[in-house]
Amino acid sequence: TIELKTLLGSTGMTTLDPGFGNTASCSSKITYIDGAAGILRYRGYPIQDLAVGSSFLEVAYLVIYGELPEPGQLKEFSDKLRENADIPDDMGTFIDAMPRNGHPMSLVASAVNTLAAYYDDSVDPDDENQVELATIRLMAKLPTIAARIYRNSIGEQPIAPDPSLDYVENFTRMTFGDARPDGELGELFGKAVDLLLILHADHELNCSTATVRVVGSSQADIFASIASGVNALSGPSHGGANQAVLEMLDEIRDSGVSIEDFLERVKNREVRLMGFGHRVYKNFDPRSKEIKGLATQILDRDDNPDELFELALKLEAAALADSYFTERKLYPNVDFYTGVIYRAMGFPTNMFTVLFALGRLPGWIAHYREQLHDPAFRIARPRQHYIGANERRYPGQG
Ligand code: ACO
Repeated sequence: TIELKTLLGSTGMTTLDPGFGNTASCSSKITYIDGAAGILRYRGYPIQDLAVGSSFLEVAYLVIYGELPEPGQLKEFSDKLRENADIPDDMGTFIDAMPRNGHPMSLVASAVNTLAAYYDDSVDPDDENQVELATIRLMAKLPTIAARIYRNSIGEQPIAPDPSLDYVENFTRMTFGDARPDGELGELFGKAVDLLLILHADHELNCSTATVRVVGSSQADIFASIASGVNALSGPSHGGANQAVLEMLDEIRDSGVSIEDFLERVKNREVRLMGFGHRVYKNFDPRSKEIKGLATQILDRDDNPDELFELALKLEAAALADSYFTERKLYPNVDFYTGVIYRAMGFPTNMFTVLFALGRLPGWIAHYREQLHDPAFRIARPRQHYIGANERRYPGQG
């Protein structure tokens, strides 16, 4: 149970709201969520419509700049991203020097943080041109950084960005090189990555976006703020859940525990059912419906059924038939089915959250930029409810 308390302290009235469950810290025009009805809209457009009608780049433009791009605007945006996709040679050397078996989220956060050092002509939050330049650099370079970190982890040479390819195609090529599936399967995978990125593009004041805003509220530059968002995303209660779901499915399969016994362990609070539950969605997560549809399209093949997908379907059905989960309004969230899709595409488990970061980047950028223009903008500085000792006599003072 979350307790919301109004407290009268020495500095006046404050509200104690653990986890900010009832606290709005800003006004925003970016994303609308109705958690009870399962509605999610970016800039007013339902995600279901964007999923069918738009590419990830169009959605990124919409989230960042507020309107769907006209064809000319999209081309200009896409051209700028192609032109800026390279990273400086010494940044490549820096990435290559980091521990190759380190978790990619830790390495991505570090690399993003250093962008401020490589591009100190785009770190001034008061200069709109610099913020715009940093926006393009972040969007353009994150796929290059992520792919290089992945190639290092498997001991392969990096692949330079190819300006003739579109955003998602370029990322999968820099990641998998010639091992990328081609033909019909390649096209299906490309579309699937694009759709997954769209569905992750923003989600109002989730933990990582709130972090970006908090860090940015001190007038820290956009690279530092977004590196902090990457770190916040890495935790298993947030973006790291997509990795945790796959590890959970692997464990259930490998240990041979029955689904019923596993759910008993969840109910006994020994483990959490990863990929279930959400602070805001208390009915269903509309992203999870879309992603389940995608997983069905890719993995539910009579000729070659995917073992982990089948296990996930059974686990979901068993949980939804159990009053422990329905009474607490626990339903599959965005992370429940993403992992099985990524694994089928050949991404290693520890790269899943990096893919989430690629998708969430436009949202982080949009919130950082919106905050700069908010007339109510001021440094984030929550209060606390002090429960420590009253004044104590220092030893030796009589
Ligand atoms: N498995 C089992 N029980 C759960 C789960 C779960 N996944 N999630 C919540 N509960 C239970 C809690 O134990 C609590 O029960 P109680 O009232 O008997 O004590 C009740 O449901 C309410 O849960 P809270 O922890 O208060 O919910 P909160 O809003 O703080 O947490 C969160 C939301 C972090 C997403 C949680 O549901 C969770 O840990 N889920 C698993 C991790 C996960 O999938 N995270 C991804 C979220 S989506 C995203 O960030 C992209």
